[in-house]
Amino acid sequence: MLYRTLGSSDLKLSAVTLGCWAIGGFMWGGTDESKAIEAIHKSIDLGVTSLDTAPVYGFGLSEEIVGKAIRGKRDNLQILTKFSLSWTDPGDREVWKMKDVDGKLVEIHHDARKETVIRECEDSLKRLGVDHIDLFQQHWPDDRTPIDETMGALDQLIKDGKIRAAGVSNFNVDQMEQAGKSINLASNQPPYSMVNRGIELDVIPYCIENNIGIVVYSPLQRGLLTGKVTPERDFSDTDHRGGLKLFEHANRIRIIDFLGRLKPIAESHDATVPQVVINWTVHQPGITAALVGARNAVQAEENAGALDFELTSDEVEFVNNELEKLDLDR
Ligand SMILES: NC(=O)c1ccc[n+]([C@@H]2O[C@H](COP(=O)([O-])OP(=O)(O)OC[C@H]3O[C@@H](n4cnc5c(N)ncnc54)[C@H](OP(=O)(O)O)[C@@H]3O)[C@@H](O)[C@H]2O)c1
Repeated sequence: MLYRTLGSSDLKLSAVTLGCWAIGGFMWGGTDESKAIEAIHKSIDLGVTSLDTAPVYGFGLSEEIVGKAIRGKRDNLQILTKFSLSWTDPGDREVWKMKDVDGKLVEIHHDARKETVIRECEDSLKRLGVDHIDLFQQHWPDDRTPIDETMGALDQLIKDGKIRAAGVSNFNVDQMEQAGKSINLASNQPPYSMVNRGIELDVIPYCIENNIGIVVYSPLQRGLLTGKVTPERDFSDTDHRGGLKLFEHANRIRIIDFLGRLKPIAESHDATVPQVVINWTVHQPGITAALVGARNAVQAEENAGALDFELTSDEVEFVNNELEKLDLDR
């Protein structure tokens, strides 16, 4: 495993960090708690020291599962969680409705006001069963709350010893610039994968220039880049992937074809294609860590082993050329 310092903070993360969204079940067609705990234990056994979760992942469930899994193992782990997506008391805030795994409608809204941030931190500490959070991240921008109010709350939480570092997620350059005026911003968490590279334009250069860590999400494009999403695979109506444009059949076929061309590279390293995908992602300029989701120990083991080899510059060039030829409907 590779460990990297997160921006200007004193945190070191494992470059493969376990993403714990799917194990919360919500938007992923449900979860299996014992398999989720096995995935966490397998990851830790193989050198993954960092875990990324959020309250909204299963409305507390992902954090609770992480809390159970890390009991007695918390030292030397970095726990990353988030705030600002709430599912109670929207007041006059705009809500969006989504189906929970049991088919019930849930209403979610943005809220990054100071008192909410402080309360959410306490709630997460309880669910996780820890006395501090290593990286506390604003999940999404909240255009109803001034950024300096939210950052002020994070600053207070650092002073109180409740969190070690402050981060954001899904922030653009302007929003990061604003946040950086009131706090030492450790990181941003944007989406990034071989087939989703928009942040290369501005977010990555800005973060490199300002020594802000980048922990990227969905590096396997929610499973699409594993080769396991065949044209035949069905997703339940509570698994959001069935409705994503990139998961449409024509794209699945093109992606499977592209992944097939990476097979010789994988085989030459005694590795798998998803491992090549993760390895490529972690070694792109500016990337501190890739948050890789895993629902069971088999996936966790494969993902944790993704940095056990080095891609040659010729192989990276080959991958980049193949990506240029890949034409997806978006
Ligand atoms: N800040 C944000 O707004 C935000 C948004 C999204 C994600 N995230 C974070 O980033 C993490 C990772 O992103 P993600 O979960 O969206 O996507 P991902 O890591 O690209 O894909 C994860 C999914 O791919 C499948 N998979 C993983 N490893 C596999 C393997 N070795 N073989 C076969 N299938 C495998 C699993 O789903 P199946 O087995 O069901 O196919 C798994 O749930 C999340 O858990 C979360 O912590 C943050």
